[in-house]
Amino acid sequence: MPGKSDMPGKLRGVVAMDGPSGTGKSTVSRRLASACGAAYLDTGAMYRAATLAVLRAGLDEASPAEKIAAVATTADVESVTDPAAPGIRLAGEDVEAEIRDVPVTKLVSAVSALGEVREAMVARQRRMIDAAVASGGGMVVEGRDIGSVVAPDAPLKVYLTASDEVRAARRRRQDAKAGRAADAKVVLADVQRRDRLDSTRAVSPLHAAKDALVLDTDELSVDDVLAALLGLVEERGLCAP
Ligand code: DC
Repeated sequence: MPGKSDMPGKLRGVVAMDGPSGTGKSTVSRRLASACGAAYLDTGAMYRAATLAVLRAGLDEASPAEKIAAVATTADVESVTDPAAPGIRLAGEDVEAEIRDVPVTKLVSAVSALGEVREAMVARQRRMIDAAVASGGGMVVEGRDIGSVVAPDAPLKVYLTASDEVRAARRRRQDAKAGRAADAKVVLADVQRRDRLDSTRAVSPLHAAKDALVLDTDELSVDDVLAALLGLVEERGLCAP
């Protein structure tokens, strides 16, 4: 017979999942949402899709910030929040694969550092969260500023960490699975470059919210992290029976 934590009820409200890339955030967030009958929102995918729009408009990191912001803030980005088949569309086109490619990955930190872009994205994210919660449901939202800015009242905030080396190795395995082979040193340097940009930007830099639970995942498997999260969700009474 499955244990209580194998059969949680339906999530109510928001679980905020933050942390740098390669901490297992996406996998764990999707699985948590599936296990709790909740929606799943990948806010990084929204910044990536807006960045793809910037590239498609013929702009790059040397372009004026106001031009980049004008394209990114008006991009027709639509998130699919089913944790069994999450996705992202740009002007109706499925761009899930393209937003993970190198050109977007290189430019996304610069685009997501712009105040105007963040303001527009945060407003969209809050609208999606409000809609999910208003209908009596829950949403697992992953990103960099969810607990600190987007959903500061979330009843559960988790900040995942891991060493640079472990995160780079995970990112490399993920890339290899998706057919994007990359050199270990290049991946490590990219992970560190993005961390630096994301943590030092002026607007909403990456940091754990004061009341976030910090989980170091160096020694934890995805199953371990999921079990810890399910325990927390239950402990805090966030599940409807
Ligand atoms: O999680 P990810 O690697 O797909 O995120 C892509 C980029 O988007 C990342 O470099 C930081 C940025 N981001 C952000 O600034 N705020 C968020 N809530 C999510 C992502």
